[in-house]
Amino acid sequence: MHRRLIAPGALAVSLLLTVPASAADYKPGAPGIGDPYYPSYGNGGYDVSHYTLRLKYQPVTDTLEGTATLLARTTQDLSRFNLDFLLDVSEVRVGGAKASFATSGEHELEITPKTPLAKGTPVTIVVRYRGVPSSKQAYGFTNWHRTPDGGVAANEPEAAWWWFPSNDHPLDKATYDVSVAVPDGTQAISNGTLRSTSSRAGWTRYTWRSDKPQATYLATLAVGRFDITTGRTESGIPVINAYSKDLGDNAGAARASVERTGEVAEWLTGYFGPYPYNALGGYVPNVSTGYALETQTRPFYSPRQFAGGSNVSVVVHELAHQWYGDLVSVAGWKDIWINEGFARYAQWLWSEHEGEGTAQELADHVYASHAADDPFWKVRPGDPGPEDLFDIAVYDRGALALQVLRNEVGDRAFFTILKGWPAKYAYGNATVGDFQEYAEQVSGRSLAGLFDTWLFKPSKPGTPAARGAGV
Ligand code: ARG
Ligand code: ZN
Repeated sequence: MHRRLIAPGALAVSLLLTVPASAADYKPGAPGIGDPYYPSYGNGGYDVSHYTLRLKYQPVTDTLEGTATLLARTTQDLSRFNLDFLLDVSEVRVGGAKASFATSGEHELEITPKTPLAKGTPVTIVVRYRGVPSSKQAYGFTNWHRTPDGGVAANEPEAAWWWFPSNDHPLDKATYDVSVAVPDGTQAISNGTLRSTSSRAGWTRYTWRSDKPQATYLATLAVGRFDITTGRTESGIPVINAYSKDLGDNAGAARASVERTGEVAEWLTGYFGPYPYNALGGYVPNVSTGYALETQTRPFYSPRQFAGGSNVSVVVHELAHQWYGDLVSVAGWKDIWINEGFARYAQWLWSEHEGEGTAQELADHVYASHAADDPFWKVRPGDPGPEDLFDIAVYDRGALALQVLRNEVGDRAFFTILKGWPAKYAYGNATVGDFQEYAEQVSGRSLAGLFDTWLFKPSKPGTPAARGAGV
């Protein structure tokens, strides 16, 4: 009835103000954000600042349903725009009004709002959906890991498509409220702090908040039957860890490693500066996949990471990413070295700390153990290509390059760079070129040759200069 409050004349005037003078100027947002490795990932025309996901997951049928509310701002005059998503959408609203929608490509949801959106407008997007995530594939794969008692969304560079609609690229970071109802006796684990839990009619709802900018691939959801441990770091940051009740033989080694999270994070602050978030932890679900992932504040660890026994090194790696990868994220996926080279180097520093071999010894080993004709040297860590994004060379040759840099600029400049970089690009994005520029600025040296040789040449470099050469 409030419609009567607006005089017909006033309505006409407001329509004149909101409808574009020339609707032809309003264009569809691009179906990709412009990443050369993955042209369809992310989208153009808007920027998301916040996701609120209110979901319900039934492990028996692998059914995820609920509502995503995105707070965004347009960055161009938009006639329509895309989100990246795979589940079945039943309704979309933009600014409260029902919008029409269609799917296209491998993972695009095309949304046409009732009225076009002017550049710079705040816009609320509500997507109601439901689906069986494990039944959805894009490019022939699924990154939803179903387990006997639930499921897990965690992978890189793509994970969000299977559980929430998003602008799926690290360039568009946002804050998250993730609330998931699961059958009593089951837990839902996500990023950040646990704001509340409540039970009703056989369902328990877990509500998590990640309140610092977070890339979409760093948002995670795990549902299953977990043992949960809580604690605090020495400086008071709350730690929540979760271990599947179904880890079998690996349970002891998993706990003995992940329970070191607080200690390792505090140790890393000595190299990288203050821990950038207000929550910490790790979770180990009963998945059969093998990798680990630096999901923000609470990394994901496959049980297989602990099959060989305790593995604090992987905890060091994933926590190092909280600075190198999560706080400072890649501007494009070609910049993966600014994540993996540094997370590997942190493992070398930990090895040195534990008396298990110095960073120099580990660098020498990487150099010596790959002959000149080893395909290892074909991979260019500074621009590896999408096929080799996580090739071992990105990690090991990437960390070797850092040891070479350390020897070139000396320890003082090197450790100033290591600590200064996360502060300089905090909560943002950067490129390999930005790192070179920053290292040159701090060290006062030209490093173009060093970067080219160690990160960009598809061949084994000549013997690296001895330690201390550049001090
Ligand atoms: N950033 C992750 C790590 O270094 C890599 C994840 C790789 N994912 C994969 N499917 N191989 O721990
Ligand atoms: Zn890594």
